[in-house]
Amino acid sequence: MITTSGLTKVYQSRGREVTALDGVDLHVREGEVYGVIGQSGAGKSSLIRCINLLERPTSGTVTVAGQDLTALAGRGHRAGKELREARSRIGMVFQHFNLLASRTVQANIELPLEILGVPGRDRSRKVLELLDLVGLADKAKAYPGQLSGGQKQRVGIARALAGDPKVLLSDEATSALDPETTRSILQLLRDLNQQLGLTVLLITHEMDVVKTICDSAALMQKGRIVESGTVGELLATPGSELAHELFPVGGAASGPDSTVVDVTFHGDAAGRPVISQLSRTYNIDISILGAAMDTVGGKQIGRMRIELPGRFEENVVPIGFLREQGLQAEVVENDVTAIPVQTPAPLTKEVAK
Ligand SMILES: Nc1ncnc2c1ncn2[C@@H]1O[C@H](COP(=O)(O)OP(=O)(O)O)[C@@H](O)[C@H]1O
Ligand SMILES: [Mg+2]
Repeated sequence: MITTSGLTKVYQSRGREVTALDGVDLHVREGEVYGVIGQSGAGKSSLIRCINLLERPTSGTVTVAGQDLTALAGRGHRAGKELREARSRIGMVFQHFNLLASRTVQANIELPLEILGVPGRDRSRKVLELLDLVGLADKAKAYPGQLSGGQKQRVGIARALAGDPKVLLSDEATSALDPETTRSILQLLRDLNQQLGLTVLLITHEMDVVKTICDSAALMQKGRIVESGTVGELLATPGSELAHELFPVGGAASGPDSTVVDVTFHGDAAGRPVISQLSRTYNIDISILGAAMDTVGGKQIGRMRIELPGRFEENVVPIGFLREQGLQAEVVENDVTAIPVQTPAPLTKEVAK
């Protein structure tokens, strides 16, 4: 649904060049909720602004629903109408809502329809439908100043949906909201994604947002995408920073003569007594250094960090056993140099949840 290829954006700022996007290849499938996460300055807003051509990319291409927007933008004035129409099929939600204070809720949502030249009666009908969809049917005549932050964002979302977009782009839509309101807005985005088959690309600096609603995610650093994939793929990628952030399980090895393994359980494997089978089959004592169960991307996933006695070479067979059971088992670098040998380490350390 959205593809960027070699997308680059260089800003000229007071005689200096700032590379905000450095060859971004992004693939967002139809009907998925895709999260891009990264620290401030990573280039997230530039990415979203280049995708809907609010910002002109320096190089590279952007394709949305099969249409090459960069080619349209490059054709100059005559393609202006086509580009405007293509952009009207991309909804955009902003962190600070960007509502007009002097217009009622209804008139705010109507604005994009006015610009598209939709006749008055059709506009009113559409607005009522949209207000219903976002749960604000009784607020048509209210002014933005009379609404809470969450209600304002619902208006922002209704306005973004006015042109019946196939794609919704959201730049930190929940960053100005409290945790409870954040949850309700994320739920709304999820519902819209499912009810309308809407593809959602959202930008956030909060891992919790990704965890709550995303099917896929990408990690951005310094204008580049350094990791990407479905949540399941990321969790299955050894050493994935996103997987670790999505699903932290704490705990370090108790000494140099042990092997620490992160075990991830998906689906029905979560219900089987795999660890006790491992212990009995190989007659080994297993310490649990940390464990967590959670719902990620709508799926129940468990993670556990276990410690096996003996070095890695001695544990190849038990680790193979875990993998044969359909679990993902990733050996964690045994960094015990920081632990003084004479200090007796506790058997079990932090249990995450
Ligand atoms: N209009 C602009 N002019 C000059 N530099 C910009 C402009 N917009 C963003 N930048 C710079 O580009 C980099 C990426 O910014 P941005 O895309 O806003 O990142 P994020 O949304 O991840 O915080 C930053 O170094 C920022 O200062
Ligand atoms: Mg930003």
